[in-house]
Amino acid sequence: MTTLLDVPALQQALGPDAGRFRVEALAVCDSTNARLLERARTQEGDADAAIMTVLVADQQTQGRGRRGRPWIASPEKSLTFSLLWHAPLALAHLSGLSLGLGLALARALEHFGARDLFLKWPNDLLCRQAGASAKLAGILVEIAGTAEPSGNPVVVAGIGINLVAPDNTDQAAAGLSACCPHMPERALLLAAVLREMARVLDIFADSGFAVALRDAWQRRHIAQDQPVCLLDAGRVVAQGICRGVDADGALLLEEATGIRRHLAGDLSLRPGFS
Ligand code: BTN
Repeated sequence: MTTLLDVPALQQALGPDAGRFRVEALAVCDSTNARLLERARTQEGDADAAIMTVLVADQQTQGRGRRGRPWIASPEKSLTFSLLWHAPLALAHLSGLSLGLGLALARALEHFGARDLFLKWPNDLLCRQAGASAKLAGILVEIAGTAEPSGNPVVVAGIGINLVAPDNTDQAAAGLSACCPHMPERALLLAAVLREMARVLDIFADSGFAVALRDAWQRRHIAQDQPVCLLDAGRVVAQGICRGVDADGALLLEEATGIRRHLAGDLSLRPGFS
């Protein structure tokens, strides 16, 4: 079945990085993350662990988002894919990886002239227009137990980018078409994202999040040094001034009792809170 992705054009746009990826495109699947996780769990060690498998689907019937939420995206209006990475690192050294990938995504979209992009802890990419910010893309990183001889984990990083703002979301949503002066063709867009992801993964594997990526991430953090609330299922569980993230990518909030670190939740900006 034909898909919306022009795979030869993608290979060409990947240029010297083309050999680093094995790309598969599907018209429909349940969830690209679920498919690659299953593959990671059931396959013996890959013949060439340096190659990253990329699975792109025009449509997902059970796309999943963070914290068990569904990720609903329509084929023409979104780009959804997952990347499988054989991490050359032990599980204990993967903290902060998903934040680093957010940085890669922002940098890739900027190649096409997108401006006013921000990251929101932990994994959202936002676009600010006319003073209001809206979600442009989301990242879901999942780790598979491994059949690798090294014992290192396999990482599946799933990305959903709104090309056009979706309707019916419970959160303000933006589309890339409104943030870019010239909307890129989807193969060119995916190539740029994959190349930036590969760059970040190389840096992460060499130096880790804290040394090489944290400062750049914090410079783009929409809530940096801002009053915020942290929510769990809509309930406020903490509030304070956001002081960025620690070496593991945990959120740091300056609360009444001092700085506390948080591992999970939904961050909400609270203008006027002190
Ligand atoms: C979020 O913001 O909640 C994360 C959304 C991640 C969605 C992507 S779409 C491709 C990949 N496959 C999935 O099932 N989910 C991720």
